[in-house]
Parts: sequence; structure tokens; C-alpha cells
Amino acid sequence: MHIHLPFVFLGFVASAATAADTHASAPPLIAQDQLNNAIELDSNKDVHHLPETCPIDTISCQQTDIDTCCSPRNGLLVLAQQWDTRWGPSDAFTVHGLWPDTCEGAQLPGNGCDNSRAYTNVSNIIEESIDTTLYNDMNKYWPSNKGDNNWFWTHEWIKHGTCVTTLHPSCYATDSYQPQQEVAEYFRSILDLREKYNLFNALNASGIVPTEQMSGRRPKNTYTLQQFKQAIRTAWGVDPNVKCRGSRLQEVWLWFKVRGRDSYYPVEPWGKDSCHRISYQRKST
Ligand SMILES: *[C@@H]1O[C@H](CO)[C@@H](O)[C@H](O)[C@H]1NC(C)=O
Ligand SMILES: *[C@@H]1O[C@H](CO)[C@@H](O)[C@H](O)[C@H]1NC(C)=O
Repeated sequence: MHIHLPFVFLGFVASAATAADTHASAPPLIAQDQLNNAIELDSNKDVHHLPETCPIDTISCQQTDIDTCCSPRNGLLVLAQQWDTRWGPSDAFTVHGLWPDTCEGAQLPGNGCDNSRAYTNVSNIIEESIDTTLYNDMNKYWPSNKGDNNWFWTHEWIKHGTCVTTLHPSCYATDSYQPQQEVAEYFRSILDLREKYNLFNALNASGIVPTEQMSGRRPKNTYTLQQFKQAIRTAWGVDPNVKCRGSRLQEVWLWFKVRGRDSYYPVEPWGKDSCHRISYQRKST
């Protein structure tokens, strides 16, 4: 591995730009020119994934001229967790996905961001990864509600995972990169996020627990959207988006930006709610 001077320089300029931003004054033009040169010089990079070469205090979507191995270009993300009474542990939401959006909140192309990594064997990749607990954890916390996990995980990888710029193979040291390792890393990082932003526990802490399933046309034992939002605001200081079909709870979305390469922190939601009364039913599993 060689010393990576142009990049260290880029990091320096980038933090200078951050400081300038917070004081609402433009960086001097000379710095901008040097920044462009730095990016030019840096185009033959092969080592970028090393934390010590990335500034740790960048905030996604706040700077444009930042190396996309160090700060995700699609830096506004949705963590979608689902509540499906037929799947997953009775005391846990399961994962739908982590979806990078553009910094303007727009969705990325439906076919993802990198055809060359549109793997169709994601379940195998996960099963054979060096992360020996990943496959079991995926089956437990990320089941497809259509019963085909490989299809579901493959879809999530191709459409969303390939858009995480910090996981591009060019960001890894060539001498240590194992093909497809970023696929397993993508899923592991999301399972970790689910655990950290554990919706079941956050709701429970505000006394919101699943209620008995009721047959019949009119939902009973429902919660209000406001109760859901307040519980999550109490836990993490932001509102979620809450998604229902009719009154039946389907998903809760949390929005994130990223500090440094991969430190996710919650931000206010950019999407819409589709619930009024929320039927949060006990799971039958
Ligand atoms: C998955 O598919 C890719 C591309 O076809 C292949 O290179 C890789 O070996 C496969 N991985 C596993 C674990 O089957
Ligand atoms: C739910 O909250 C109650 C107290 O409000 C606590 O005793 C219980 O352990 C919590 N359950 C879970 C699963 O966190």
C-alpha cells in the first residue's frame, strides 16, 4: 500500500470547506482550484477504504467535491422496517431495506447503480461470507414476506446496495479485497442499524405494544399516527414516516444522513405518512 498524499490533501481542503460552510462564507477560490487538482491527481487511486485516509467529520449531502469512497454520494437514506404479522420474531420489526436517495430526496434508478455487480446469488454470497452469523441473522430479521429470500435480498442489493458509493470495490485496498465482500458488508451494516434503531423497543418504551388481532371490518385497539410519531421522537429525536394499508401498519421509515463513511444519524423525514388510525397487531408467529 502506498502513501496517498493527494488524498490527504483533499481531506484537508474538505474540512476547510466544512468550516467555511458553517460560517456561511464561501471558501477562497484558490482552495477550490486546488481541490479540483486534487481530484484530478487522485483518479488513479487504488487505496481508499482505509479510515485513516478519509476525513471523519464529513456530512453527506453537504459538500459536492468529496471523494465518494469517503462520504456517500447518495447521502440521504431511508431505513424501511416492516411489520408483517406472518413473518419474523413476535417482538421485532423486520427489515425491508436501506435505500439511498439523492441529496434532493429523489429515488435512484430502479435497476440500481452498477450493472456489473447485479449479482443474482445474494443468498449464496451471504451464506459463504466470512461473517458467519450473517446468514442466520438475515433469515431471522430480513425474511421476504413472499417466501423467497434470495429474490428479496438480490432485489435489494441490485436496486439499492449498488448505489452505496462507499462500498464500491474501487474503495478497497486491492491486495485485500475479496470479490463480493461489499455485499455482505452492506447487509451487515443494515442489520446493525436495525438493532440500533429497534422500533419494537422504542414503541414499547412509550407503551405502544401490539394488540390482539380482531376479525371484522372495523379495526379495534388502534393507535394514532401522533402516538407513533411521539414515541419515535422520544427515542431518537426525529419523526418517522409511518406506512399503512388501510389502517393496518405496514412499515416505519427512518431517514438518515451519514457522518464520515458510515456513521448513520437520523434526520427529519422527507416522505409522506399513509396512516391515520394505526392497527399494530400482535404477530401470530
Ligand atoms: C455469485 O455470483 C458471482 C457472479 O456470477 C460469482 O462470481 C460468485 O462466485 C458467486 N458467489 C457465490 C458464493 O456463489
Ligand atoms: C416493554 O416495556 C416494559 C416497561 O414499560 C418492560 O418491562 C419490558 O421489558 C419491555 N419489553 C421489551 C421487549 O423491551
